[in-house]
Amino acid sequence: MARIKISARRIFSLILPLCFIFSANAEPTAVPAKSAPIEAKNETFASKNPDQYQSWKATSEQSDRVDALAEDPRLVILWAGYPFSRDYNKPRGHAYAVTDVRETLRTGAPKNAEDGPLPMACWSCKSPDVARLIQKDGEDGYFHGKWARGGPEIVNNLGCADCHNTASPDFAQGKPALTLSRPYAARAMETIGKPFDKASRFDQQTMVCGQCHVEYHFDGPNKAVKFPWDNGMKVEDMEKYYDAITFADWVNPLSKTPMLKAQHPEYETWAGGIHGKNNVTCIDCHMPKVQNAEGKMYTSHKIGNPFDSFEQTCVNCHTQDKATLQNIVAERKEAIRVLKLKVEDQIVRAHFEAKAAWDAGAKEEDMKPILMDIRHAQWRWDLAIASHGIHMHAPEEGLRMLGGALDKAADARTKLVRLLASMGITHEIPVPDISTKAKAQAAIGLNMQQIKAEKEDFLKTVVPQWDEQARKNGLLSQ
Ligand code: HEC
Ligand code: HEC
Ligand code: HEC
Ligand code: HEC
Repeated sequence: MARIKISARRIFSLILPLCFIFSANAEPTAVPAKSAPIEAKNETFASKNPDQYQSWKATSEQSDRVDALAEDPRLVILWAGYPFSRDYNKPRGHAYAVTDVRETLRTGAPKNAEDGPLPMACWSCKSPDVARLIQKDGEDGYFHGKWARGGPEIVNNLGCADCHNTASPDFAQGKPALTLSRPYAARAMETIGKPFDKASRFDQQTMVCGQCHVEYHFDGPNKAVKFPWDNGMKVEDMEKYYDAITFADWVNPLSKTPMLKAQHPEYETWAGGIHGKNNVTCIDCHMPKVQNAEGKMYTSHKIGNPFDSFEQTCVNCHTQDKATLQNIVAERKEAIRVLKLKVEDQIVRAHFEAKAAWDAGAKEEDMKPILMDIRHAQWRWDLAIASHGIHMHAPEEGLRMLGGALDKAADARTKLVRLLASMGITHEIPVPDISTKAKAQAAIGLNMQQIKAEKEDFLKTVVPQWDEQARKNGLLSQ
């Protein structure tokens, strides 16, 4: 795989700033002293930046919803007791961010601003209104309270003010710098020794994506977003961080294990892959420079699958044809998929075997090391598979994490066999029929009919009120 045209990118990166009279480092990225309010309505910028706006808007063409639980019902068991067991779709275009967080069964059906189940932090990677609110109310002012409180405020889909400071003069001049609109992301970058303001243009490009495409958890009384990077970004480093603060996202009710749920750690896994190590940025592949009808170059904001714009992405650095590279990526995807399923089968069994041990009267002190193995196994597995595109971004790291997960699951199951035997249980512990999503959800006692009915009612009654209020307050364009 040594057929690399590095020089092409070097030249490319020299020319581009000239084309755009643009330099991220020279432009002020901090909010100006007398800061104008951040504008979250993406439509405001359509006429001045038609190419960027139209390409951004075109992410709405990526509308396919893939139901990950239907594809693989084992997930329901692994996430039992956690909202992900109700509903989990694979990501789609940025233009759907607000729609999807409203519609997912995970956010429930709150009846009023104080109603649960989730905290405000669940809006954090969905909308430029988050940047607007943090500027207006500060982080504590934004984070406090339940998710439903943000309903009438957070209404514009992920857009301009998420990655640019729409209040700064450079934006009005059509040559916006990049910015971290989320202060908690800025702090995390400082933690790993990469303060945004001092970072190179390439580093800044990846960091804007790393505001959201990362692992994080909800911290402190306000449930504010924090990235677990104090010890580093590897799977073991983050695990050490979580163990030290005895953090658990939830307890799996089958095995009673205090679990960790990985989010979408693309930034971390990219950093550990061959492209990240060579500082090939998310932008090089997902936001290529393209030509408009008049032949003027601009940055495509239609963030999607880079293979759809192969000539403007991979070809800048690679000489292989599209089919060759796609085959390599497909082979890696298959290798990850096969190992992932093996790991899942082991952890599913471990959850049921632990349940059988509890049911037979196992002692807390005997269960503790077993539950720790289950926690660590599932964390490694989840961090690998929750990073969408891992087969492209860091296949070796993905396989390494899954290998570690398999080891930990085997440790748990070896201990469980011994413990069960010591209590006179030597037969195989049965796993219920989980061959479909519906069967798996029934097996963990979810009443999906009720959950869905409540959601439908919420979407019909509460959400239209949110939009109406937002329109009245001038927060929405139409
Ligand atoms: C997910 C992050 C992200 C979002 C959302 C985003 N941009 Fe950008 N924007 C970028 C990046 C990255 C660049 C390229 C910067 C570079 O080349 O270093 C860029 C560049 C630009 C430029 C400079 C000219 C060019 O084409 O390179 C303009 C103008 C611009 N964006 C406008 C917008 C507008 C208008 C919106 C909202 C409709 C928007 N951007 C939304 C990340 C984003
Ligand atoms: C403000 C948070 C945020 C930022 C910043 C952000 N993303 Fe996303 N991204 C999301 C969310 C949320 C989704 C899933 C949307 C959905 O499914 O409703 C997503 C989806 C995606 C997808 C899947 C698209 C598809 O059609 O399947 C890709 C690829 C992606 N983002 C890449 C990037 C890149 C590259 C950057 C940086 C230029 C970036 N994102 C910046 C939050 C963000
Ligand atoms: C070397 C090119 C390259 C780089 C660098 C890169 N990606 Fe990707 N990414 C891809 C390709 C190609 C795919 C789709 C793989 C496939 O076809 O299965 C993808 C897939 C994704 C997906 C999954 C989309 C989906 O619908 O499942 C997300 C999210 C994503 N990338 C985000 C990022 C972020 C964020 C970064 C930077 C931290 C990044 N990527 C860096 C090439 C790249
Ligand atoms: C900006 C330059 C750049 C772009 C764009 C780029 N790559 Fe790469 N790619 C590299 C570099 C550098 C390496 C590492 C080469 C080495 O060390 O031999 C690499 C290595 C690879 C490898 C082999 C390394 C491995 O993982 O075993 C594959 C496969 C690959 N790239 C696929 C892609 C695909 C697919 C795309 C488009 C989606 C892409 N690359 C886009 C620069 C780039």
